[in-house]
Amino acid sequence: MDTLKISIKRILCAAVVAALSILSFAGFASASDEGRAAKIVKETCENCHRFSGPPKSKFTLDAPDMMWSGVKYQRDWALRWLEGKEEALYPNGYRWDSKKKDSKHPALSSSDAKAVADYMEKNFRDPRVQKNALDLSRFTEMEAGFGADIYKKYSCIGCHQIMEDGKKVGGPISVTLYSAGKRYTADWLYRFAANPQDFTPHSGEYLADLSALGARYIVGYLMTLGIDGYKYYEPWKSEYFQKADPERGAAVYKTYCAQCHGFKGEGDGPGAAGLDPKPAVHAKMPLSEMPEDYLYNVVYHGGKSVGKSPSMPDWGLTFPPQDFADLIKYLRVTFKGQ
Ligand code: HEC
Ligand code: HEC
Ligand code: HEC
Repeated sequence: MDTLKISIKRILCAAVVAALSILSFAGFASASDEGRAAKIVKETCENCHRFSGPPKSKFTLDAPDMMWSGVKYQRDWALRWLEGKEEALYPNGYRWDSKKKDSKHPALSSSDAKAVADYMEKNFRDPRVQKNALDLSRFTEMEAGFGADIYKKYSCIGCHQIMEDGKKVGGPISVTLYSAGKRYTADWLYRFAANPQDFTPHSGEYLADLSALGARYIVGYLMTLGIDGYKYYEPWKSEYFQKADPERGAAVYKTYCAQCHGFKGEGDGPGAAGLDPKPAVHAKMPLSEMPEDYLYNVVYHGGKSVGKSPSMPDWGLTFPPQDFADLIKYLRVTFKGQ
């Protein structure tokens, strides 16, 4: 009996030892990747990049700062960059003010690149950059269009190149943005846009006067650059439209739209008197024939979004998504033209 107990104990011990050694081997393997990455960063990367310290002017640096590298890049892009498979980002070299040109960027083997990318993701996070700060899961093509307008109206194009009809356009001062959608995380861009000086002070950077929505448009737009067939959200194909209810829509119309368009859509609400052009006479328009996406944009983003009067308000911030679906259903079942 005793010998049996002893041998069972022995078998158990052997099993525990085996399990422990598998675990410690796994632990040892990743510790060694991490150690190898730390060594590469220290011995190679730190010759040019900083991985700690306060933000500083680029005119005192040799290469972009890496303190936030763990949250700035998309992993696939970071791997390609580290393996030397991406083109340079700064058309005139990182330091356009210096005659010295950037030497070819060191390229790592794919296993070293992976180890370094892991190491950056683990160690160089930035608490200012919040995960999912910007939700682009409902980003529409119209919003991207507003972002593209901002890109030109706020002189982004003066300093950062993008691609138009296969050609690079814009001032080649700072980083190129034509493949921004493959490179950055939206969260980092969103935080950067809030105040570039928190990252690249005294470097020739520029702070645009953007509202929260404006920041969404420009960052969302950047995230489409370089992505073939970017998948935009199409509200008129959403679950809200599937369960749209014209009676609920009628109530919204009465409260908000009748002020100008009149209770019956005759264009005779009290607001009409002071407006030129006059509010559309829905009762005479075949809204039933108008595409849902058009009606959605006109109501959500206002008359100005489709080249009509800005007196037709943009209701995007006023209503929840279900109201738009209900309203548009109401417009389409009620107004059939004459
Ligand atoms: C000899 C100097 C030098 C060394 C060494 C070096 N880099 Fe760079 N790195 C640069 C320069 C210069 C740029 C900007 C080049 C450009 O795109 O025009 C850059 C760009 C980058 C970028 C993109 C930066 C951005 O946000 O635009 C990453 C990521 C990067 N390096 C990571 C690394 C890592 C990791 C290492 C170590 C394996 C490393 N670099 C080693 C000089 C260097
Ligand atoms: C007057 C020139 C100028 C204008 C205008 C400008 N930028 Fe920049 N931008 C810079 C400079 C300089 C930097 C710092 C990076 C560097 O070049 O070292 C920078 C940095 C950036 C970065 C971060 C780059 C990186 O990878 O670290 C983004 C993204 C960016 N700008 C987007 C924009 C957008 C969007 C606009 C328009 C709202 C804009 N910029 C307008 C000069 C400009
Ligand atoms: C402050 C007045 C005002 C309010 C309130 C208003 N509209 Fe309008 N709306 C206008 C004006 C003005 C036009 C005509 C624009 C033009 O022709 O340039 C218009 C035009 C329209 C059109 C026609 C667009 C086209 O292609 O001709 C639709 C559809 C519409 N409004 C829907 C609505 C809905 C739905 C509401 C309520 C959520 C609403 N409007 C509330 C002023 C208003």
